Amino acid sequence: MSKERTLSIIKPDGVEKGVIGKVIGRFEEEGLKPVAIRMARLSQAEAEGFYAVHKARPFFKDLVSFMTSGPVVLMVLEGENAVAKNREVMGATDPAKAAPNTLRKLHASNIEKNTVHGSDSADNAKVEIAYFFPETAISAYEWKR
Ligand code: PPS
Repeated sequence: MSKERTLSIIKPDGVEKGVIGKVIGRFEEEGLKPVAIRMARLSQAEAEGFYAVHKARPFFKDLVSFMTSGPVVLMVLEGENAVAKNREVMGATDPAKAAPNTLRKLHASNIEKNTVHGSDSADNAKVEIAYFFPETAISAYEWKR
C-alpha cells in the first residue's frame, strides 16, 4: 500500500445531471482526498491532447466532441493506491458492465456519457495531473477525522 495521486474528471454528463457533490462525496467516503479541484470548459485542442493516446480509435472524434460539450470538473485525488481505488469506485467503462454501486452504474448513461474519467496507471496519472495542474495548485493537508 502506498499513498499516490490520480487524475479524476467529472465529465459533462455528470455536471449536467447535478451529481458533482455526490461524486466528490463518494470519493471522500472511499478515502480519496481531493487535493486540487477546478471547473473548466475544455477546448478542442486540450481534449485532443489529453486523449491523444486514443487518436487512432474509431470513437476519438465523438469522445473529443463530448468532452468539449460542456463544463467538466478536474480533480487530483490522493490516497492509498489511489489509481486502482478510483477505478474500482468508478466501475467499468461501459455502465452496462459496471458493478453495482459504482459511480458509473449509479450515474452513467452509456460508454460515452460515463460520468467520470480516472487515470489507468500511476505513470499516466503523473502525466495527466501535470496536463491540467501545476504542482503549485496541489494542496498538501491531512484529514482530521
Ligand atoms: S479504458 O478504461 O481506457 O480502457 O477504456 P476504453 O474503452 O479504452 O475507452 C477510452 C476512453 O474512450 C471512451 N470511449 C468512448 N467515447 C465515445 N464513444 C465510444 N464509443 C467510446 N468508447 C470508449 C471511454 O469512455 C474512455 O474515456 P475515459 O475518459 O478514458 O474514461
